Amino acid sequence: MPHSTENPTEEQIQVPEIITHPVPSRLLDSKQCPTPHVNSMEQYRAMWTESVEEPNKFFGNLARELLSWDKPFETVSHGSFENGDVAWFVGGELNACYNAVDRHAYTNPDNIAIIHEGDEPSDVRRISYGELLREVSRMGNVLKSLGVRKGDNVAIYMPMIPETLIAMLACARIGACHSVVFAGFSADSLLDRVADCGAHVVITSDEGRRGGKNIATKRIVDDALSKESAHQVEHVIVYKRTGSEVPMMENRDLWWHSEMEKARSVCPYERMSAEDPLFLLYTSGSTGAPKGVVHTTGGYILGAAATVKYIFDVHPGDVYACMADVGWVTGHTYITYGPLTLGVTTVLFESTPTYPDPSRFWQLIEKHKVTQFYTAPTAIRALQRLGDKWLDNIDLSSLRVIGSVGEPINPEAWNWYNENVGKGQCAVVDTYWQTETGSIIISPLPGCTPTKAGSATLPFFGIKPIILEPSTGNVVTAVDETGVLAIKQSWPSMARSVYNNHSRFLDTYTKPYPGYYYTGDGASVDKDGYVWIRGRVDDVINVSGHRLSTSEIEAALIVHEAVSESAVVGAHDDLTGQAIHAFVSLKSHCQVSDGLERELILTVRKIIGPFASPKRIHIVREHPKTRSGKIVRRILRKIVNGEQNQLGDTSTLADPSVIPSIVSQVHKK
Ligand code: WTA
Repeated sequence: MPHSTENPTEEQIQVPEIITHPVPSRLLDSKQCPTPHVNSMEQYRAMWTESVEEPNKFFGNLARELLSWDKPFETVSHGSFENGDVAWFVGGELNACYNAVDRHAYTNPDNIAIIHEGDEPSDVRRISYGELLREVSRMGNVLKSLGVRKGDNVAIYMPMIPETLIAMLACARIGACHSVVFAGFSADSLLDRVADCGAHVVITSDEGRRGGKNIATKRIVDDALSKESAHQVEHVIVYKRTGSEVPMMENRDLWWHSEMEKARSVCPYERMSAEDPLFLLYTSGSTGAPKGVVHTTGGYILGAAATVKYIFDVHPGDVYACMADVGWVTGHTYITYGPLTLGVTTVLFESTPTYPDPSRFWQLIEKHKVTQFYTAPTAIRALQRLGDKWLDNIDLSSLRVIGSVGEPINPEAWNWYNENVGKGQCAVVDTYWQTETGSIIISPLPGCTPTKAGSATLPFFGIKPIILEPSTGNVVTAVDETGVLAIKQSWPSMARSVYNNHSRFLDTYTKPYPGYYYTGDGASVDKDGYVWIRGRVDDVINVSGHRLSTSEIEAALIVHEAVSESAVVGAHDDLTGQAIHAFVSLKSHCQVSDGLERELILTVRKIIGPFASPKRIHIVREHPKTRSGKIVRRILRKIVNGEQNQLGDTSTLADPSVIPSIVSQVHKK
């Protein structure tokens, strides 16, 4: 079913006057910067045209250039959205870990692969490619000794430490799929994900460290696994991060360091088919339980490497710093696989942007001479609010490219980032993509694309974006007209399936508009062909770049014994992009009590995780409903976004009289 463009964020990005920023001349001056991989719009257009008109030629060449193959592929691309059988590099064999580690360890063993900037600024670890190969090989052997084999799934619930990357790469090495679960998820959410993928092994740490505080990682794993019949976990590997005492369950729990000591540091890698899965990553959709999005080996790592090469314009010796968490797709592609496959240095940041003070990001850039810096609009807005003084006297001149990801960036934040961090001398890349797309699909290229604050600009190679009229599916050709964003043909790094549920994959992405991949985002295209992303048009809310499904939060609220019904909508928020508003009605025998709101918030934190906390809980007598009893969330969305005067015809509601009381409740001072 096509979705509607009902969308609270649609008007968010109205730009009064749109200025086009040319490429900073410094980036094109070979005395100051390496020559960009693409340095003219003519070159971009020629490459893009070839990539969509002759994808087999374009991506065949790119895959040979950027990746090392154990067996060359015979067919570059095959299949279609309609048949649900998209495949790339068919017949080819390769290993993602070999591409990210071994080949660089053989040629440049002393080059730094990972700089770990620990929670305390003084806590810095540098890991060379040579060392990374030994550690990854050891971990591969540990996993094998626990019975993990090619095709098995391994769950990883870890803080932002190098061992997380080592664990991921070790899985890739032996042909197991990792399923990294963001360490902000609660025990219940972790259990759902561990159980769904059938993992026999979970890798975790005693605790995490963030912003000066210890986080009880292992305790959450213990809670998650306490119901033994609910999962198949046989072993938990525990890395000692803080050294705090944690209970270890005999026969189940193993210390990382003791197992590593026993293991040999040579471990042959598995030759994987290009289409063998590399990892699962659970993500929220508009309905139902989170989906285990499946990414494959060849296409995914090609997308990761190609986008780091062209969109971040990475050159040998660069120090690439992505501030995302490894638990989300941005961390997979832009901390782990992208930079390492290209053999550059990746920075792994354990702390927060404001610890010990709001100059932390900028200190990190100066200290490690970061060349590419990648973060989210929420962080940019938060730091902008704290004032420019935190940037004073810090040398950011190593930077060439600064990126933004995860949510629409408002022009004020874009301008601040450009002027204060980039000093007008860097390319600002507003990169649009999704867990399912595997790598960035719409973005400027640093050496050629003129930018406009708030637009992700133009498609990456292989991507043909199309705007569709939501209800008919007709192609929208009119300039600046908002519709839903779809992609016309397959590209190498797109997800191939939902774990154990291929029909759900097709229903969600390729069936809504036959012949297209459906993104779930609203967008328009301006007179220059620039894409403006307008935010989700389905029931996904994006809070601080974290993707949440309204139905999951609703289901969590219902668990509270007082709740009869719940409806969750996203409201525009100046800091976090969107904020969660929950409308809750109570069971007839339940009263509003002091502390009920807090209890409801705690219920959501317990079932999903702290990052899903509703900002506001509105306890209502009754929801606005259709006569057949369906809650009309559209009306609630308008009310929380201050559009209560534009509710349209409410006479078809079962009881229109509920609306005034809801409006006054939401907008009471
Ligand atoms: C949103 C994160 C506007 C969008 C990589 C998408 C963006 C969802 C941008 C995917 C951007 C991501 N401009 N919106 N540059 N980047 N989004 O799966 O709504 O966590 O559908 O992947 O984030 O979130 P996900």
